[in-house]
Amino acid sequence: MLNFARARTQPRPNRSVSFGGMDYVDPKRKSNLIGKILLAASLTAICILMLKQSQSFITPSVFNIHEKGVTHVLVTGGAGFIGSHASYRLLKDSYRVTIVDNLSRGNIGAVKVLQELFPEPGRLQFIYADLGDPKAVNKIFSENAFDAVMHFAAVAYVGESTMDPLKYYHNITSNTLGVLEAMAAHGVNTLIYSSTCATYGEPEKMPITEDTPQLPINPYGKAKKMAEDIILDFSKNTDMAIMILRYFNVIGSDPEGRLGEAPKPELREHGRISGACFDAARGIIPDLKVKGTDYSTHDGTCIRDYIDVTDLVDAHVKALENAKPSKVGIYNVGTGQGRSVKEFVEACKKATGVDIKIEYLPRRPGDYAEVYSDPSKIKRELNWTAQRTNLQDSLEIAWGWQKLHRDGYGSS
Ligand SMILES: NC(=O)c1ccc[n+]([C@@H]2O[C@H](COP(=O)([O-])OP(=O)(O)OC[C@H]3O[C@@H](n4cnc5c(N)ncnc54)[C@H](O)[C@@H]3O)[C@@H](O)[C@H]2O)c1
Repeated sequence: MLNFARARTQPRPNRSVSFGGMDYVDPKRKSNLIGKILLAASLTAICILMLKQSQSFITPSVFNIHEKGVTHVLVTGGAGFIGSHASYRLLKDSYRVTIVDNLSRGNIGAVKVLQELFPEPGRLQFIYADLGDPKAVNKIFSENAFDAVMHFAAVAYVGESTMDPLKYYHNITSNTLGVLEAMAAHGVNTLIYSSTCATYGEPEKMPITEDTPQLPINPYGKAKKMAEDIILDFSKNTDMAIMILRYFNVIGSDPEGRLGEAPKPELREHGRISGACFDAARGIIPDLKVKGTDYSTHDGTCIRDYIDVTDLVDAHVKALENAKPSKVGIYNVGTGQGRSVKEFVEACKKATGVDIKIEYLPRRPGDYAEVYSDPSKIKRELNWTAQRTNLQDSLEIAWGWQKLHRDGYGSS
């Protein structure tokens, strides 16, 4: 048997031998020493590499320092329709932008367009993350120095919300709470929140002012109202500057044709009227389904206040510029003019040049007859009015992008 615990029987030889006053290092020992140094060096290199790749190693970047004269805006949902247009406008106006999106509904193609337009370092970064993941949200806030947040990210289809309400409460209400908590924890003091006219429900009196009671009638509107309530309660004990924008129905796209609205094909059935109109005009669907012709409106179809996305993002920039610590501003963002679905379809036919086939169907659950805004408060306080919105022109611009992007950003 081998004796592994063998005791040393002879004394260990000396490490160096002295010849006439000179130290002579045994060559075997010398190569041992070099080996040890090499080993230590490679271990240090491995440690540095591992640290660099580890989550806690923060590479210095302009995105994680507050730079004088530069406002860094976190745009949640910036790969989506409105968020991408807002990011473009912010970048054009020299803001620094971080987009956070889980791409569940948005398009990486929109982010790529923005990256190509603003390739300079320190202008735009994209972070793929889900706002429903508190660890990810906290990491984003601890690794970046934001000055403001524009919180667009949300699921946003009334019809879908009636079928899957929990998804809406989670994605809208709970995620907004998470964003707010992260802002408070990391000292980010300006919030521009995307709310909706769906929080008003179906008020008896038109037009809708900001003081119209909020009585939402579908989970989408309720989830947004709850998110607003959380923000408002929080605002009472903070010096955060808060702007809540309640948008009406958003149409149009970038007049220069760089960005457009490209919902995922599987969401088509929940989609908005403009998307359905364009799909019918392109022959992707056989006809346009108009849901509800017996509402108490002048032609029996629903009335909505359509607002061009360019005007809407302008309202966001004005809100950001006018946001004041410890103040909450709540504004309707609409034109103040209601247009019926039938009028919309006529404008869409003219804009596309296609005689779209219409199928009239019963009402859709959760829809309301007539909704249009009183936009006088935003005009008075932020000096904002809709400059570009014109049903036919806005649709014509959007159609221009749709025609060239039959498969959304996939075909750009
Ligand atoms: N489009 C309208 O007519 C309208 C009207 C009123 C209010 N709004 C509000 O405007 C905002 C933007 O709407 P939109 O039309 O651009 O919708 P959109 O679906 O095009 O964009 C929403 C974006 O949010 C992202 N997102 C969703 N959940 C996320 C999550 N958990 N984590 C990270 N990213 C997530 C999606 O991937 C998508 O890119 C929404 O808050 C919506 O409620 C829209």
